[in-house]
Order: sequence, then structure tokens, then C-alpha cells
Amino acid sequence: MPDPRRAIRAQPMSSPRSSLLWGVIVPPLIALYFIYTLQLHVIFPEITDPKQYPALFKRAFFTIVKPALGSGASYEDLFEQVFGSGGERQPFTRHIVAVGDLHGDFPNARKVLQFSGVTDAFGNWTGHADFFVQTGDIIDRGDDTIPLFDWMDRLRGQAAATGGIVLSHLGNHEWMNAIGDWRYVYPTEIKTFGTVADRQKLLSTGRIGRSWARNYTTTSRLPLHPSLGPPNTPFPPSKHLHYQKEDTADLENSQYYDTNIPLSHSAISFVHGGLSPTYRDLTPFPSRINEVSDSLLKKLQNRVQPPPHPPNAYPGLPSTATQAEIELYNANGPLWYRGWAQEPEEKVCVDVEKVLAKTGTRRMIMGHTPDFTGIVARCKGKIIIIDTGISHAYGGVLSALSIHYTLTPIGPKEKKRWVEKEVVSALYPDRQEVLVKDEREVVGDFH
Ligand SMILES: *[C@@H]1O[C@H](CO)[C@@H](O)[C@H](O)[C@H]1NC(C)=O
Ligand SMILES: *[C@@H]1O[C@H](CO)[C@@H](O)[C@H](O)[C@H]1NC(C)=O
Repeated sequence: MPDPRRAIRAQPMSSPRSSLLWGVIVPPLIALYFIYTLQLHVIFPEITDPKQYPALFKRAFFTIVKPALGSGASYEDLFEQVFGSGGERQPFTRHIVAVGDLHGDFPNARKVLQFSGVTDAFGNWTGHADFFVQTGDIIDRGDDTIPLFDWMDRLRGQAAATGGIVLSHLGNHEWMNAIGDWRYVYPTEIKTFGTVADRQKLLSTGRIGRSWARNYTTTSRLPLHPSLGPPNTPFPPSKHLHYQKEDTADLENSQYYDTNIPLSHSAISFVHGGLSPTYRDLTPFPSRINEVSDSLLKKLQNRVQPPPHPPNAYPGLPSTATQAEIELYNANGPLWYRGWAQEPEEKVCVDVEKVLAKTGTRRMIMGHTPDFTGIVARCKGKIIIIDTGISHAYGGVLSALSIHYTLTPIGPKEKKRWVEKEVVSALYPDRQEVLVKDEREVVGDFH
């Protein structure tokens, strides 16, 4: 077979027409000829998918250089060896901003998101945060229900367009409205929807209700590093489902900590009320709670909307609600629990370890129980309560929680040492306060 490359070089490249022919048209044809005569598309299925070309190049490259380097190392290691400095380990950073109960106050919500850097002066996503988390109770006690929920969806779209993520949660007040418990609904707010029936519709099968069903969860688990997967990757990972078995007294040596996964608990949980230590559906976290939540919300949104209470009788949960759905909405469930805010230090600081171990997290962030003077951190920041009564209905302080996470390589590459650092701060309009500064060394490959 004649060498096609030599054939190309042998051609005069003087005229623009011949360079177009030989430079642009012929090489792909030759490539196709080789792919199909040598059946390369059978060996490399990626060959038919242009998105896979970089990966294909890498594979092809190492198929050629691997024998030359004579090593049993992985493609990635070889890539680092061959491209030397290009293989330097890069530091990783992630910035999270979380905000608590907003209760119908759009102007105050706008201020909070602006001074925390999530949005600009026009209320648009800035891209300064990688994640914006809201822990529920956007509705009730104010008139701005519609603009607030619409804004959250607009931000969700703007964030997604720049690689950011908005994590939204349903609070007990969203659930109350879905149930037909309208005790905290202002009559002026109902007017912004039109009629009671208009409001029922928009919150069930209408735009806002559909967004609750699709874009909101009751709880979430946010890994601080991407090697643990995207938000809401369940813990324990399915292959370790036996972790769900009973607690051991000695948590450090319990089955919840897998020493082979040094970052396994480098994640944070978010929920409106709190993850009670005696709540039965904690694991797998957060998928179990969110499954129960999805099915209950569906039942509520699809039933004939009961006449709201008051003045009518409290409608309660649908008669078809399961035991798990009833427990989701009771006082010990994730929407209403207040133990982390109200129980004494000796108790919560012991209980929290159990819940963190089970849920694969290192701290829990929640709203629901307000402190009008500021964000509350308990047990060295393992429990953080971010409801500061932002709405004018309360007149508390405006606040946001900021988390800066970094994983920075140190020492020689082959020792695989990294410094993991997390700085948690409370942000207020006029000041900020560091709540936690955690730092430790970890060893491993974190891509
Ligand atoms: C910013 O927000 C305004 C008002 O909400 C909107 O009209 C505009 O399209 C937004 N800009 C961008 C870039 O999304
Ligand atoms: C959910 O959020 C997206 C933005 O990412 C928005 O476009 C959509 O309307 C929202 N609601 C539903 C039901 O998907």
C-alpha cells in the first residue's frame, strides 16, 4: 500500500485550490479510509462520536507510547509523565452561599443575595458562587410569593448557564400551603394571585407547584469535592448499603467511616427544620427523604384542592398518606424538628455525631428556628442555623452563610498529599464573622 502521507507531500502546494484540496478535503477522506479498512470504529466506538475525540486521542496516544515507556501505570499517570508540567496537580476551590427563611420579602432577599455576591445589583447571577442554597420558607408572612419563586427559577437558569447550581428546599410553610393550611397567608398576598382558586392552582398544578415538584427537594447532600459525585449523591454509596445497619457505640470505628475514602464525609447537608437523630428515614441520604417527599407532594398537588384553613377545617394529609409520609411531616421530621436549635449543648453535640456519620456529612445547615441577632453555630460548626428573620415580618438581621472550600496539593506529587480547608463565615450587610476554620491533611488521588 502506498504511504498516503508521502503522496500528500509529493504534491505541489502552490495554488489555493490545490491547498484546499490537499489540506482540508483529502486528509479526512484518508482517515475514513483507514478507519473503515482497519475496522477502527469497531475497536474504538468513540471514533463515530466527535465529542469523544480528545479521549480517543489520549487512548491512541498511549497505545503507541505505552510500550515505549514500558510501565504498568494508568493512562492518566502516563499522561502526566509524558506531558510533565501539564500534569501538575491543581488546587480545587468551591464557594457555597446559603440563605435561610425569606417569608415573602423580595426586597430583603434581593439585598441578601447581593451583599453575599450571589447576584448583582439587577438581581442577576454573578457566577461568584458555585452553589446557592436556600433552605425553604420562601412563602407566607409577606406578599412577594410570586416574584420570589419566579426569581429563584430565573437564577436557577442563569446559574446553570455558567456552570453554577441553585439548590432549593421546601420548608414547612411551603408544605402547609400545599396541604391547605393557610394560617400564615396574608389576604393581600392572595390578591397577588387573583382568587383563592387561582392561588390553589398556581401552587399545585400551576407554574410554582410544578417548580416545587421538579426543582425543590426536602433535603440535600452537597459534597464539597467533585470526586464524591454531584449534589445529592446518596450516602452510603449503594455498594455499602450494609452501612445502614445499627449504629455502633464507637463512631470513629463504626462502619460509617470508610478509611479508603478520605473525603467520604466532606459534604454538607441542608434541610429546613432538622435531621433528627431519631428520624427513621435518614438513609440512604438524601434520597430516602426526598423519595418520601416527592410522593407526598404528588398526592397533595393532585388531590382536589381542599378549601383552605381558616376559615375551613384543617384538611390534613391525604388519607392515602403512608406512615413514612406522615412521619416526614410530623414534629420529629425534617420540616419541623427544632432539637438542634433548642436542646442543650451536652445533648446535641453527642447526637450530631451519629447523624453526621449516617448521612455522610461533616456539618448540617438548617433554617426554621430564627435567632434575630445572627447565624448560630453549635458544636464547632457541626450544626449551623441560618434563619435570622430576614423578612420585615420579623425584622431580624439580613444574613447569608458563606463556605469556601479548598483542596491544595502539597509536597512531591508521588506522596499525594493535600491540604483540605474549609472556611465558614456568617455574612451581614456591614460585617462578616468567621464561624469555623477547619484544616486537615489528606492523602489520595483527587481528580
Ligand atoms: C437581569 O435581570 C433583569 C431583570 O430581572 C432581566 O430583565 C435581565 O434579562 C437580566 N439580565 C440577564 C443578563 O439575565
Ligand atoms: C425549574 O427551573 C428551571 C430553571 O432551571 C425553570 O426553567 C423551570 O421553569 C422550573 N420549573 C419547572 C417546572 O421545571
